[in-house]
Amino acid sequence: MTRENLYHHEHGGAPERRFNLNGEPILDFSVSISPLSPPITNAGLDTFSVHRYPSIDGNGINDFYRERYGLDQSTVLPVNGAIEGIYLIPRALGIKKAALLAPSFFDYERACRIAGTSVQFLKLEEHERFMLPGIETIADNLRGVDALVAANPNNPTGTGFPKEIFLALASRFPEKWFIMDEAFIQFVDDFPDASLMRDVRAMKNVIVVHSLTKFYALPGLRLGAIIAHPEVNRFLLGYKEPWTINIVAEKVARDLLRCGDFERELRMLIATERAKIFRKLNGIPEIMLKGHAANFFLAQWNAGPDLDDLLFYLVKKGIYVRDCRNFSGLEENYFRFAVRKPEENDYLLQQLMLAGRDAAACAQ
Ligand SMILES: Cc1ncc(COP(=O)(O)O)c(C=O)c1O
Repeated sequence: MTRENLYHHEHGGAPERRFNLNGEPILDFSVSISPLSPPITNAGLDTFSVHRYPSIDGNGINDFYRERYGLDQSTVLPVNGAIEGIYLIPRALGIKKAALLAPSFFDYERACRIAGTSVQFLKLEEHERFMLPGIETIADNLRGVDALVAANPNNPTGTGFPKEIFLALASRFPEKWFIMDEAFIQFVDDFPDASLMRDVRAMKNVIVVHSLTKFYALPGLRLGAIIAHPEVNRFLLGYKEPWTINIVAEKVARDLLRCGDFERELRMLIATERAKIFRKLNGIPEIMLKGHAANFFLAQWNAGPDLDDLLFYLVKKGIYVRDCRNFSGLEENYFRFAVRKPEENDYLLQQLMLAGRDAAACAQ
């Protein structure tokens, strides 16, 4: 691997670039962000606030996690979106070798390689519907590594994992780190029980990376936290840059405490729409649904040899989905789409079904 592609980003998005859209409007199903925005007005961006430094360690985010989830300040290390945590942890802990799930979010590998951490992959198998292998297989794969980095739910497979598996592994291997990216956990049906955020006091080798950008539709503001044992957080803080949470983000984090109605409405919307999409597409041979534990679906185009046929068809209809063929294990025509507002989902469903029917007719 050359230095250049070692550090190269491999994100989706940017439909304008790929499809030369020239500013034409497009429904972007490729980003998995809440379709509703929280009722935050005047985000605090006034001259007075930006003339001051924010708190050095992002106290507004601590306030959010304490009041919303009852988490003690010492277990919460505010970060500039989950991504800052993903990059900070291997660097600070000096992890020599990590096991990563594949397919999964690309930045775990990139963060490890930049930190000088070598990686090996624990494959999630298509024929197992991208679920985790059995615990003994995972344990075998942990031989010789000092950390497992995993996402729950996993992106882009959309699979959710029982946290008990990670807790069992963490107590069996106290000398290894279990780093869990829970960026999408607020969308799962059994949140907060599904989260490890309340287990970190008892399990010093479990580190949760949490995000406020997906659920609260704030990717532009960058808000998240590392949730870990106080001693681990103190150590990580020693390696973290100061002032990475800006003053607007700090203020908005506190405003999120008044978003109870938004949270209920969003959870209801996602659950209802997810069930509707599943009902309508399940059993359609041209579109094979895979994981959908969070606010997005992984699916496989099964109506022809080339996913580009579907992608171009959808773009002509003003729809953009995430081409997942650049993920190892998803080369065979996999794509991902987010759950959006009801009428937008209905339009996507209609177009997916038409594309499938046309492709099936052509094949005859
Ligand atoms: C699995 C996963 N974790 C973390 C992130 C980054 O989240 P944040 O915006 O909080 O940095 C992403 C962004 O797409 C993601 O998909």
